[in-house]
Amino acid sequence: MRVLAIDGPAGAGKSTVARLVADRLGIPFLDTGAMFRAVAVTAAARGVDPADGDAVARLATAIAIEVDGDRTTVDGSDVSAEIRTAGANRIVSIVARHAGVRDVLRTLQREWMASRGAGVVEGRDISTVVFPDACLKVFLTASAQERAARRVAQSGGDVEEVAAQILERDRLDSTRDVAPLAVAPDAVVIDSTGRPADDIVSEIASLYGKRCGRG
Ligand code: DC
Repeated sequence: MRVLAIDGPAGAGKSTVARLVADRLGIPFLDTGAMFRAVAVTAAARGVDPADGDAVARLATAIAIEVDGDRTTVDGSDVSAEIRTAGANRIVSIVARHAGVRDVLRTLQREWMASRGAGVVEGRDISTVVFPDACLKVFLTASAQERAARRVAQSGGDVEEVAAQILERDRLDSTRDVAPLAVAPDAVVIDSTGRPADDIVSEIASLYGKRCGRG
């Protein structure tokens, strides 16, 4: 399997870059954060406590989550807009720290790749846990200020406030016990601060060609 794994903190440009690279290489793209978000909004909708790991893991097993490009469905219902709300942002890190939930989603992510053979997969633990044998691992980062400014340009809000939320989410994601956000030893670290997306896409596409063969 020719896996291009892209990990990094919130707002580093992973989704934008991963989509564009996938287009450039002509291979599919998987946003794994959308899977965690789908579990989070379904838990909220069904009154399941996001902090209850066993209950959320049972829920994740019971529902059918499908992520296809920008469209995410749960049991056939479109949740693509709902998973991007401030409410979803608030609870998703809590849901993502449960080992049982991660087990279920990791299986889905591996099945997604096995049926496609090649793809760009974006998340937090793709290089370290889900696809440790990926032929190319990229850790994409940017300064907290720039990440906040990008979020505000996209969805509004106050830069300082958003920067504080982003730092808090980074802290939760990197300090959790299971599969924390971390740089794989063999990952290429790319800092996107002040760089246009196109530039980064070209760099990654060229690395993929060299390390993974043609898409
Ligand atoms: O990339 P994102 O903002 O949509 O991710 C949403 C949350 O899910 C984020 O708090 C981290 C978590 N996540 C994770 O733990 N592992 C992944 N592979 C992807 C996302």
